[in-house]
Amino acid sequence: MISTVRLLQLSVLLFTIHLAISKLEFTNIKCITHDPEFLVVDYCFLKSINRTYKYLSVKAHLFQKPVTKVKVNAATFQRLNGYKPFLYNVTVDACRFFKNQKSNPVAFYLYNLFKDYSNLNHSCPYDHDIILEKLSINHVNKQVTDVLPVPHGDYLFHSNWYVSDIKRLTVDVYAKIF
Ligand SMILES: *[C@@H]1O[C@H](CO)[C@@H](O)[C@H](O)[C@H]1NC(C)=O
Ligand SMILES: *[C@@H]1O[C@H](CO)[C@@H](O)[C@H](O)[C@H]1NC(C)=O
Ligand SMILES: *[C@@H]1O[C@H](CO)[C@@H](O)[C@H](O)[C@H]1NC(C)=O
Repeated sequence: MISTVRLLQLSVLLFTIHLAISKLEFTNIKCITHDPEFLVVDYCFLKSINRTYKYLSVKAHLFQKPVTKVKVNAATFQRLNGYKPFLYNVTVDACRFFKNQKSNPVAFYLYNLFKDYSNLNHSCPYDHDIILEKLSINHVNKQVTDVLPVPHGDYLFHSNWYVSDIKRLTVDVYAKIF
């Protein structure tokens, strides 16, 4: 478990080696259902409205509701020769996390990147479709640049979603920082 101290150390390290971030851009998104009888992906796309307004949306439809046990594994990768693990690999019991968000600083940081755009904003049970609606790149940009600068390059935000300990969904978001 990464503690607040560890998170701070990482931030300080990144600041110290002076890695300036200019801009983050989504480059691709992929959603994969591992069990179409449990869950289907209604949509999963990236859209460019114009040069400044780009967003991504995801909707997952659940067939077996309510859902009372949710676990998320989120890991970030940096592309070097292929995608290599970079910085984060956290597994969070979502039901527990939503009861006390401050209990897990890394999950809190990651959740804050999209929380204003999602209906995943309460604790279990979930008895509705899960929606991430028009998460704007500018919003993510602001969070990432303000909170934790990372080096330029290509990144992958990989997440696996488990319900009742069975992997149901993978969401991969690709981004470029330049
Ligand atoms: C981009 O699109 C958004 C949403 O339609 C609009 O509010 C904004 O003014 C547009 N920006 C430019 C530069 O056209
Ligand atoms: C993340 O950590 C878990 C448990 O330590 C491990 O099984 C998994 O392979 C790791 N994932 C990545 C992408 O490194
Ligand atoms: C969760 O988000 C929905 C839709 O944006 C909103 O209507 C609701 O009030 C939010 N719930 C909480 C607990 O913040």
